[in-house]
Amino acid sequence: MNQNNAMKIAVVPGDGTGPEVTAEAIKVLKAVAPLEGFQYTLETFDFGGDRYLKTQEILPAGAVERLRTFDAILLGAVGHPNVAPGILEMGLLLELRFQLDQYINLRPVKLYPGVETPLAGKGPADIDFVVVRENTEDLYCGVGGFLRKGTPFEVASQTAIYTRKGCERCIRWAFEFTRRRNNPKGKKLTLVAKTNVLTYGHDLWDRTFRDVAREYPDVEADYNHVDACCMWMVKNPDRYDVIVTTNMFGDIITDLGAILQGGMGVAAGGNINPDPGGTSMFEPMGGSAPKYTGLNVINPIAAIGALAMLLEHTGFPAAGDRVMRAVQLVTGTKMKSQSAGKMGYGTTEIGDLVVAALASA
Ligand code: IPM
Ligand code: MN
Repeated sequence: MNQNNAMKIAVVPGDGTGPEVTAEAIKVLKAVAPLEGFQYTLETFDFGGDRYLKTQEILPAGAVERLRTFDAILLGAVGHPNVAPGILEMGLLLELRFQLDQYINLRPVKLYPGVETPLAGKGPADIDFVVVRENTEDLYCGVGGFLRKGTPFEVASQTAIYTRKGCERCIRWAFEFTRRRNNPKGKKLTLVAKTNVLTYGHDLWDRTFRDVAREYPDVEADYNHVDACCMWMVKNPDRYDVIVTTNMFGDIITDLGAILQGGMGVAAGGNINPDPGGTSMFEPMGGSAPKYTGLNVINPIAAIGALAMLLEHTGFPAAGDRVMRAVQLVTGTKMKSQSAGKMGYGTTEIGDLVVAALASA
């Protein structure tokens, strides 16, 4: 917060459709602030593919230190058709997650009213759980290398790193979160891992989970192997309340989760550093969708959902709730589909509809 108690938000619209969906999220922010009585300041940063192509630089010197002074970051999308895959993802998204130590990747899987799921016979009452994905370790550390590269005798290694501190802080946060969420169907935290094969790294996760679980007797501590979890997510998604998992498995199961909740136009996530003074970053899960860029057809619901999460986790939970209720009014009573170009409205009209719904939400 600055002197006037205004929340400082850094905006990184990024590539492709990122700027279009971010603009709708900001439109909703502008409308909800007076209704909920809070102040904010915005500063926009042009990080992304276009800047990189011009300057050969992804994050300029001092950028991370600047971003650290903000209360939160709102990110649009990363990925540019003229930049090789991986460069921006690693140099911008993963770099910020790591440098800002955003060790929780929070991904709600919630089917909003009126949204179609590919699961036959399932509705909003069945699909409502949250994945807590560890966000700083595992195969994402970039530890590995090549030997005899380019020869028939090439060797490549990629090492998953797990630390007691890294898994414990994530697991503890997940137990606290499950307690706060206070699911009326029962508080349950499921560890998703692969202890039957990853007998070192996931043994550490499993032992840590059991240790921490003792401090939370009110939360049922449950375990699923990741392959079984994929099956249950499709067959019986209602068995989940909160899932805690490793970085790579979390990446994979949350795309499955996203499609259960209606697709990439809907799914939002938060990269959270919950420590005092930490800067968290919120983003729609979909990519930069180059083929839809500039056409006013992309779905901004995920970006507006990311804004709701930003408000919830940056000190304005009532404002976050109100945005979520407005979003659900719009999906439930207005939108024809959550797919780009099939919504029955343009991108900017969806933003307007959410703004209008805020008053009654
Ligand atoms: C995600 C994305 C990223 C990840 C990519 C773009 C590096 O898939 O946020 O889930 O793997 O974490
Ligand atoms: Mn992913």
